[in-house]
Amino acid sequence: MSPRALLTAALAAVAAAAPLATAPTAKTAQGPVTGKTLDSGVNEFLGIPFAESPPLRFGAPKEPNAWTEALDATNYKPSCITQFNYPEKVRNFTIEVFNMPIQPESEDCLYLNVWSPSGPAPKGGFPVMVWIYGGNLQAGAASLPVYNGEKFALQRDVVLVNINYRTNVFGFPNSPELPNGEANPGFLDQRLALKWVQANIASFSGNPAQVTIFGESAGAWSVKQLVALPPNPLPFRAAILESNAMGVTGGETSYTTLLKATNCTFAPSPLTCLRAVPAEAIKDTIERANLGFDPVADEITRTADVAARFTSGKAAKVPLIIGSNADDGSAFAGIFGGLDFAATSFPATAAAVTALTFQCPAAELADHAAKSGYDVYRYVFDVKAKSAPFPHAGAWHSFEIGAVFRTYNESELARVSGAMQGRWADLAYTGQPAGWPKVTAGEGPVLVFGEYDDQLVGPELDDKVGCKAMKKDVLAAGL
Ligand SMILES: *[C@@H]1O[C@H](CO)[C@@H](O)[C@H](O)[C@H]1NC(C)=O
Ligand SMILES: *[C@@H]1O[C@H](CO)[C@@H](O)[C@H](O)[C@H]1NC(C)=O
Ligand SMILES: *[C@@H]1O[C@H](CO)[C@@H](O)[C@H](O)[C@H]1NC(C)=O
Repeated sequence: MSPRALLTAALAAVAAAAPLATAPTAKTAQGPVTGKTLDSGVNEFLGIPFAESPPLRFGAPKEPNAWTEALDATNYKPSCITQFNYPEKVRNFTIEVFNMPIQPESEDCLYLNVWSPSGPAPKGGFPVMVWIYGGNLQAGAASLPVYNGEKFALQRDVVLVNINYRTNVFGFPNSPELPNGEANPGFLDQRLALKWVQANIASFSGNPAQVTIFGESAGAWSVKQLVALPPNPLPFRAAILESNAMGVTGGETSYTTLLKATNCTFAPSPLTCLRAVPAEAIKDTIERANLGFDPVADEITRTADVAARFTSGKAAKVPLIIGSNADDGSAFAGIFGGLDFAATSFPATAAAVTALTFQCPAAELADHAAKSGYDVYRYVFDVKAKSAPFPHAGAWHSFEIGAVFRTYNESELARVSGAMQGRWADLAYTGQPAGWPKVTAGEGPVLVFGEYDDQLVGPELDDKVGCKAMKKDVLAAGL
């Protein structure tokens, strides 16, 4: 054989010897999807529709249409339309700290992603964890690398699901023309995704009877609403709230302002008029005018009084992990102070925001739920970042997510990642994280996750930052 023929033959032999990777296929109620088996052995399915997409703008999501040929589920779908408010300096900062890299976005965004362990599943399937992203109900994307579920699925043998949902005016329009029960399309997206998990996750080796929902920031705030106003039948049996908060107000006023800016005020149906405006024009308008769209308190998907739902026992009776970060306020103190991190006022502002917006509300919610007979496990994450997207970040807002998913690039998260992820998975498996005593109202304990070790701390942790003085205000705000 000529050298050339030899080479060709050798290449052919190599190709024949390569293992024939059979792509994993799963059946959903609407049709089959084909994902891919990663080198780790985890099966990854990206961009599965859980609703008809694109949805009618501002409309309630509908069940997806059926298909027959296997859907290619090997690529992420775009995120929903995001809102990052101007001025540009602050806008850039917010994106850089919370939303990197920037994702493609579209109204055609109602998709979810699934990572499934490849090994044999226990009877009934692996426990399932469903992640709801934060972003102040203004932005967010299930496709961000920090939320990648491969390592969680691999190391803890859980099926990891993360979902997109509409935010800002697209998710929470505040239009008086929307029918009762359909005021908050973004929350209806979350609920439809959870319904999809119930109907379909068994095909991905998941156990629909063992679903834990978890989220951070406005994702945790969403989890709180789902617990307070549980869907029926209940699509989860445990919940985790990481740095629960949502800081948007003024939805009705914002809607009026947006109608004016788009010349829709005097249209026969302002809602129909706004549906015809290009999405980019709406996005640009709300970003430049800083228009906030908070969910309507319809008592169907958002309650104005979380505390009462726990007191009356109407909240879902599920075990809860509730926590916050030791420096949750640092990024926001920076934004309030014009991004001058060297300002003498910065440390005090950061501490005040941490206490007022995060730690004390977490303490109050945990205590209130415990008093109402719920099993609550509380933590404070306190690993100071050695390098962060801004100075003096400390244990900044959202820094724990890389530890929970084990997607971090920071070596200081190496130990705590195992400690947190293990307990999150414990909750998913048994409803009770090992070696973590429950909260007794007013007494703690709080599990402090540190860089080198974890410690159980008593109520002095909250006393030190003045939570007692704030108690009445936090409760008055309905939790
Ligand atoms: C914001 O980011 C964009 C894109 O990276 C850049 O072109 C622009 O100069 C930045 N603006 C400010 C004020 O930093
Ligand atoms: C960590 O770094 C790698 C390599 O630069 C990058 O691909 C990955 O997206 C980073 N992880 C996160 C969560 O940003
Ligand atoms: C609204 O109407 C005014 C006056 O007719 C016009 O100048 C403006 O371009 C319109 N704005 C939009 C967003 O259509």
